[in-house]
Amino acid sequence: MDGDYLEFGVFNGRSFAAAYDAFSRAYRQVIERYGFLMSEDVKGWINERWSAMRFWGFDSFEGLPSVKGVDTGGPFKQGDYACSLESVESNLRRSGVDLDRVRLVKGWYDEVLDDAALARFEGRKASVIHVDCDLYESAKTVLDFCTPLIMDGTVVIFDDWFQFRGHPDKGEQRAFREWLISNPHLSATEYHKEGVWRNSFILNERAAAQPA
Ligand SMILES: C[S@@+](CC[C@H](N)C(=O)[O-])C[C@H]1O[C@@H](n2cnc3c(N)ncnc32)[C@H](O)[C@@H]1O
Repeated sequence: MDGDYLEFGVFNGRSFAAAYDAFSRAYRQVIERYGFLMSEDVKGWINERWSAMRFWGFDSFEGLPSVKGVDTGGPFKQGDYACSLESVESNLRRSGVDLDRVRLVKGWYDEVLDDAALARFEGRKASVIHVDCDLYESAKTVLDFCTPLIMDGTVVIFDDWFQFRGHPDKGEQRAFREWLISNPHLSATEYHKEGVWRNSFILNERAAAQPA
Protein backbone atom coordinates (compact mmCIF):
# COMPACT_ATOMS: atom_id res chain seq x y z
CA MET A 1 0.00 0.00 0.00
CA ASP A 2 1.09 3.57 -0.64
CA GLY A 3 2.36 5.54 2.33
CA ASP A 4 5.06 5.69 5.00
CA TYR A 5 5.84 3.72 8.16
CA LEU A 6 5.74 5.76 11.36
CA GLU A 7 6.97 4.45 14.70
CA PHE A 8 6.39 6.37 17.93
CA GLY A 9 8.69 4.83 20.54
CA VAL A 10 11.88 3.56 18.93
CA PHE A 11 14.05 2.71 21.98
CA ASN A 12 17.06 0.80 20.54
CA GLY A 13 15.59 0.35 17.05
CA ARG A 14 14.73 -3.35 17.31
CA SER A 15 11.09 -3.14 16.19
CA PHE A 16 11.94 -0.36 13.71
CA ALA A 17 14.54 -2.57 11.99
CA ALA A 18 12.10 -5.51 12.03
CA ALA A 19 9.43 -3.38 10.34
CA TYR A 20 11.89 -2.21 7.68
CA ASP A 21 12.91 -5.80 7.05
CA ALA A 22 9.29 -7.01 6.85
CA PHE A 23 8.34 -4.31 4.32
CA SER A 24 11.48 -4.90 2.30
CA ARG A 25 10.82 -8.66 2.10
CA ALA A 26 7.12 -8.18 1.32
CA TYR A 27 7.85 -5.91 -1.65
CA ARG A 28 10.70 -8.12 -2.89
CA GLN A 29 8.79 -11.37 -2.51
CA VAL A 30 5.73 -10.22 -4.36
CA ILE A 31 7.90 -9.59 -7.42
CA GLU A 32 10.07 -12.72 -6.96
CA ARG A 33 7.07 -15.02 -6.58
CA TYR A 34 4.47 -13.47 -8.83
CA GLY A 35 6.56 -11.28 -11.12
CA PHE A 36 6.14 -13.78 -13.97
CA LEU A 37 2.40 -12.99 -13.88
CA MET A 38 2.93 -9.22 -13.96
CA SER A 39 3.50 -6.77 -16.74
CA GLU A 40 6.60 -4.56 -16.56
CA ASP A 41 4.24 -1.66 -15.75
CA VAL A 42 2.88 -3.40 -12.66
CA LYS A 43 6.39 -4.35 -11.49
CA GLY A 44 7.45 -0.74 -12.01
CA TRP A 45 4.45 0.46 -10.01
CA ILE A 46 5.37 -1.82 -7.07
CA ASN A 47 9.05 -0.84 -7.19
CA GLU A 48 8.11 2.83 -7.25
CA ARG A 49 6.02 2.44 -4.10
CA TRP A 50 8.83 0.68 -2.27
CA SER A 51 11.40 3.28 -3.34
CA ALA A 52 9.16 6.17 -2.28
CA MET A 53 8.43 4.71 1.17
CA ARG A 54 10.01 6.49 4.13
CA PHE A 55 10.47 5.14 7.65
CA TRP A 56 9.89 7.67 10.42
CA GLY A 57 10.96 7.13 14.03
CA PHE A 58 9.93 9.56 16.79
CA ASP A 59 11.48 9.35 20.22
CA SER A 60 13.00 11.47 22.98
CA PHE A 61 15.97 9.08 22.84
CA GLU A 62 16.08 9.82 26.59
CA GLY A 63 13.47 7.26 27.60
CA LEU A 64 9.97 7.76 28.95
CA PRO A 65 8.84 11.17 30.25
CA SER A 66 7.53 11.52 33.80
CA VAL A 67 4.57 9.24 34.37
CA LYS A 68 1.52 11.11 35.59
CA GLY A 69 -2.27 11.19 35.64
CA VAL A 70 -4.06 7.99 34.66
CA ASP A 71 -0.78 6.15 34.03
CA THR A 72 0.58 6.40 37.56
CA GLY A 73 0.92 3.14 39.45
CA GLY A 74 1.52 1.13 36.26
CA PRO A 75 4.65 -0.71 35.16
CA PHE A 76 6.41 2.31 33.59
CA LYS A 77 8.74 4.91 35.05
CA GLN A 78 10.54 8.00 33.84
CA GLY A 79 13.74 7.22 31.90
CA ASP A 80 12.77 3.64 30.99
CA TYR A 81 14.04 2.64 27.52
CA ALA A 82 16.62 5.40 27.13
CA CYS A 83 18.88 4.88 24.12
CA SER A 84 20.80 7.60 22.29
CA LEU A 85 20.00 8.61 18.72
CA GLU A 86 23.57 7.73 17.71
CA SER A 87 23.25 4.19 19.11
CA VAL A 88 19.93 3.70 17.31
CA GLU A 89 21.44 4.85 14.01
CA SER A 90 24.32 2.45 14.50
CA ASN A 91 21.93 -0.42 15.37
CA LEU A 92 19.82 0.27 12.29
CA ARG A 93 22.86 0.42 10.03
CA ARG A 94 24.11 -2.89 11.41
CA SER A 95 20.66 -4.40 10.76
CA GLY A 96 20.90 -3.48 7.08
CA VAL A 97 18.44 -0.56 7.16
CA ASP A 98 19.04 2.03 4.44
CA LEU A 99 19.38 5.20 6.53
CA ASP A 100 18.73 7.41 3.50
CA ARG A 101 15.09 6.33 3.78
CA VAL A 102 14.91 6.85 7.54
CA ARG A 103 13.87 10.03 9.31
CA LEU A 104 14.55 9.92 13.05
CA VAL A 105 12.98 12.82 14.94
CA LYS A 106 14.36 13.49 18.41
CA GLY A 107 12.35 15.19 21.14
CA TRP A 108 9.37 15.09 23.49
CA TYR A 109 6.19 14.54 21.53
CA ASP A 110 4.40 17.57 22.97
CA GLU A 111 7.30 19.73 21.72
CA VAL A 112 8.21 18.25 18.33
CA LEU A 113 4.95 16.90 16.91
CA ASP A 114 3.87 20.18 15.36
CA ASP A 115 2.99 21.68 11.98
CA ALA A 116 6.65 21.84 10.98
CA ALA A 117 6.99 18.09 11.59
CA LEU A 118 3.82 17.49 9.60
CA ALA A 119 5.09 19.60 6.70
CA ARG A 120 8.09 17.26 6.35
CA PHE A 121 5.70 14.56 5.03
CA GLU A 122 5.10 16.73 1.94
CA GLY A 123 1.59 15.37 1.50
CA ARG A 124 2.51 11.70 1.93
CA LYS A 125 0.26 9.60 4.15
CA ALA A 126 0.83 6.82 6.67
CA SER A 127 0.38 3.18 5.67
CA VAL A 128 1.33 1.86 9.12
CA ILE A 129 1.48 3.76 12.40
CA HIS A 130 3.16 1.85 15.20
CA VAL A 131 2.32 3.37 18.59
CA ASP A 132 4.79 1.96 21.10
CA CYS A 133 5.09 4.80 23.59
CA ASP A 134 3.36 3.05 26.51
CA LEU A 135 1.61 6.03 28.12
CA TYR A 136 -1.77 7.70 27.70
CA GLU A 137 -0.35 11.25 27.47
CA SER A 138 2.20 10.23 24.84
CA ALA A 139 -0.26 8.19 22.75
CA LYS A 140 -2.82 11.00 22.86
CA THR A 141 -0.32 13.53 21.47
CA VAL A 142 0.81 11.04 18.83
CA LEU A 143 -2.70 10.26 17.59
CA ASP A 144 -3.65 13.93 17.34
CA PHE A 145 -0.50 14.55 15.29
CA CYS A 146 -1.30 11.62 12.99
CA THR A 147 -4.87 12.63 12.16
CA PRO A 148 -4.02 14.43 8.88
CA LEU A 149 -1.73 11.52 7.88
CA ILE A 150 -4.48 8.89 7.98
CA MET A 151 -5.74 7.47 4.70
CA ASP A 152 -8.40 4.89 3.94
CA GLY A 153 -6.79 1.62 5.10
CA THR A 154 -4.06 2.97 7.40
CA VAL A 155 -3.13 0.31 9.95
CA VAL A 156 -2.46 1.45 13.50
CA ILE A 157 -0.61 -0.92 15.81
CA PHE A 158 -0.68 -0.46 19.57
CA ASP A 159 2.19 -2.31 21.14
CA ASP A 160 0.92 -1.88 24.71
CA TRP A 161 -2.80 -2.18 24.24
CA PHE A 162 -3.23 -4.64 27.10
CA GLN A 163 -0.83 -2.99 29.57
CA PHE A 164 -2.25 -1.71 32.85
CA ARG A 165 -3.95 -5.12 33.25
CA GLY A 166 -5.93 -4.35 30.10
CA HIS A 167 -7.64 -1.36 31.75
CA PRO A 168 -9.64 0.56 29.09
CA ASP A 169 -9.28 3.89 30.91
CA LYS A 170 -5.48 3.88 30.89
CA GLY A 171 -2.60 4.01 28.44
CA GLU A 172 -3.02 3.50 24.71
CA GLN A 173 -6.58 2.12 24.95
CA ARG A 174 -7.87 5.30 26.50
CA ALA A 175 -6.01 7.53 24.06
CA PHE A 176 -7.41 5.65 21.05
CA ARG A 177 -10.98 5.63 22.34
CA GLU A 178 -10.89 9.40 22.94
CA TRP A 179 -9.26 10.02 19.57
CA LEU A 180 -11.95 8.04 17.73
CA ILE A 181 -14.65 10.08 19.49
CA SER A 182 -12.93 13.27 18.29
CA ASN A 183 -12.71 11.91 14.73
CA PRO A 184 -16.17 10.57 13.90
CA HIS A 185 -15.32 10.54 10.18
CA LEU A 186 -13.09 7.50 10.85
CA SER A 187 -13.99 3.92 11.70
CA ALA A 188 -11.66 1.37 13.30
CA THR A 189 -11.87 -2.33 12.53
CA GLU A 190 -9.95 -4.60 14.87
CA TYR A 191 -7.22 -6.45 12.97
CA HIS A 192 -4.40 -8.58 14.46
CA LYS A 193 -3.94 -9.30 18.14
CA GLU A 194 -0.40 -10.48 18.70
CA GLY A 195 1.66 -11.67 21.66
CA VAL A 196 0.72 -10.63 25.17
CA TRP A 197 0.16 -6.91 24.72
CA ARG A 198 -0.36 -5.95 21.08
CA ASN A 199 -3.49 -5.10 19.12
CA SER A 200 -4.06 -3.37 15.80
CA PHE A 201 -6.81 -1.71 13.80
CA ILE A 202 -7.55 -0.72 10.22
CA LEU A 203 -8.79 2.84 9.88
CA ASN A 204 -11.28 3.79 7.20
CA GLU A 205 -13.13 6.88 6.12
CA ARG A 206 -16.79 6.36 6.98
CA ALA A 207 -18.97 6.11 3.90
CA ALA A 208 -21.28 9.09 3.41
CA ALA A 209 -24.89 8.46 4.48
CA GLN A 210 -27.06 7.30 1.59
CA PRO A 211 -30.13 9.44 0.80
CA ALA A 212 -33.34 7.74 2.00
C1 LIG B 1 8.75 0.54 24.90
S1 LIG B 1 9.86 1.70 24.23
C2 LIG B 1 9.79 1.38 22.48
C3 LIG B 1 10.29 -0.01 22.12
C4 LIG B 1 10.58 -0.25 20.65
N1 LIG B 1 9.45 0.07 19.77
C5 LIG B 1 10.98 -1.70 20.44
O1 LIG B 1 10.09 -2.57 20.41
O2 LIG B 1 12.17 -1.97 20.33
C6 LIG B 1 8.94 3.21 24.41
C7 LIG B 1 9.65 4.43 23.82
O3 LIG B 1 8.72 5.51 23.79
C8 LIG B 1 9.44 6.74 23.96
N2 LIG B 1 8.48 7.76 24.45
C9 LIG B 1 7.38 7.56 25.23
N3 LIG B 1 6.73 8.72 25.46
C10 LIG B 1 7.44 9.69 24.79
C11 LIG B 1 7.24 11.10 24.64
N4 LIG B 1 6.22 11.74 25.22
N5 LIG B 1 8.13 11.79 23.88
C12 LIG B 1 9.16 11.13 23.28
N6 LIG B 1 9.40 9.79 23.40
C13 LIG B 1 8.55 9.08 24.15
C14 LIG B 1 10.53 6.37 24.99
O4 LIG B 1 11.65 7.19 24.86
C15 LIG B 1 10.85 4.91 24.63
O5 LIG B 1 11.99 4.79 23.80
